[in-house]
Amino acid sequence: MFDTQTYVARRNALREKVQHGLVVLPGNNESPMNYAANGYRFRQDSNFRYFFGIDRAGFVGVMDVEEGTDCLYADNCDMDDIIWMGPQPTVQQLGEQVGVRRTFALSELQKTIQRAIRYGRKIHFLPPYREENRQMLSNLIGIKSGSLVNYVSELLIRSVVALREIKSAAEIDEIDKACDIGYLMHTEAMRLCRPGIYEREVAGAIEGVATIYGNGVSFPSIVSQNGETLHNHYHGNKLAAGRLLLIDAGVESATGYSSDFTRTIPVDGRFTSGQKAVYELVLEVNNRSTAMIKKGVTYRSVHLASAKILAAGLKELGLMKGEVDDIVANGAQALFMPHGLGHQMGLDVHDMEDLGERFVGYDQEVERSTQFGLGSLRMGRKLCAGHVLTVEPGVYFIPELIAKWKREKINDSFINYPAVEKYIGFGGIRIEDDVVVTADGCRRLGKQRVPVTVAEVEAAMGK
Ligand code: GLY
Ligand code: MN
Ligand code: MN
Repeated sequence: MFDTQTYVARRNALREKVQHGLVVLPGNNESPMNYAANGYRFRQDSNFRYFFGIDRAGFVGVMDVEEGTDCLYADNCDMDDIIWMGPQPTVQQLGEQVGVRRTFALSELQKTIQRAIRYGRKIHFLPPYREENRQMLSNLIGIKSGSLVNYVSELLIRSVVALREIKSAAEIDEIDKACDIGYLMHTEAMRLCRPGIYEREVAGAIEGVATIYGNGVSFPSIVSQNGETLHNHYHGNKLAAGRLLLIDAGVESATGYSSDFTRTIPVDGRFTSGQKAVYELVLEVNNRSTAMIKKGVTYRSVHLASAKILAAGLKELGLMKGEVDDIVANGAQALFMPHGLGHQMGLDVHDMEDLGERFVGYDQEVERSTQFGLGSLRMGRKLCAGHVLTVEPGVYFIPELIAKWKREKINDSFINYPAVEKYIGFGGIRIEDDVVVTADGCRRLGKQRVPVTVAEVEAAMGK
């Protein structure tokens, strides 16, 4: 938790933007795995945590904008809870830590909301993504849960995004810490990886690092020899010499901030010349894209410039043909990289994705494309100092996609299919780093970059 004043200042800044009505920010509840008392690791809602700081289940924060008051609604633990969970701070004590003096039992919330509705006041809420919060808002406000989406406050969404997307120095410190743990996770994977062990042994070890040094993983780890499947969560394969292992994994710091790194490593510790050629192209795209990041440019323009570097490299490898500008205008390189260059990162690994990428990654100036590949870019807007982003180019050989494009003659004139088909079984390569946009460029987060050149990776793997 940050100091009390941080949360007071954040709520005051939000109040200034919203200007009228009641802001209702529900925290998350425990989420049962198979029965009520056997829960998944508790994960607080990031918006609640940003404005109210408390990392516990069962809280609702309410801000009365005109009155200038903030309230917390939650129930104190009873003796039963204390017997099973140990002594707990009271709601009032927790409120004091974040500058909230007015605390009430959860049962009081309905009256507060109903009174506001009677007086015709606006109730601002964000799009709920958990069913129990959807249900609670539906009951509180008296709107069918299926219709809630029509009453979400766009003003509140835009206000929250404007505040959360610019990270303070204290937040950057936290993300740096998460990235330092991310470094340990990925170098542990490099040390462990060898033929004959299973993907899950690597996954388990790096998730252990995330638990030892941080608050667990920031998203389900991707540790896969089949790296051509972008979000492959299966960990059951035995590692085989000659294959690549793609590891996309991150951690949450104690205060809830994320890291998100990807490295792709040769299972036996040495890249083959064919793997090295593709790897060095992806690394070149990563490095040159990072060098383009600065405030005032749009991330869409960086994505498109990186697509040209990729296309030029794929031509050199004999996989593509035609003019680079034409390739990218037609989105033909997306056969090899069907995702965007990166996304914002903060309290969420895809920061604020619950609020809608339309508001987080796009604005009136930059609209989301519908083109295959470019349409998957989560962050297209103009960059500002304090934005935290991932840079994550990749090259993948997805057999089903290659077959479909060939069959349907999609971008036929740009793809050298006989050459591409020789790569079926190659897998995929992604190299992902995290950066903060600064006054004059950007800085990679974490004290040290995770080993990334061919020589660094091979050295980290003991070769
Ligand atoms: N870790 C998922 C992603 O890189 O977006
Ligand atoms: Mn990632
Ligand atoms: Mn990412």
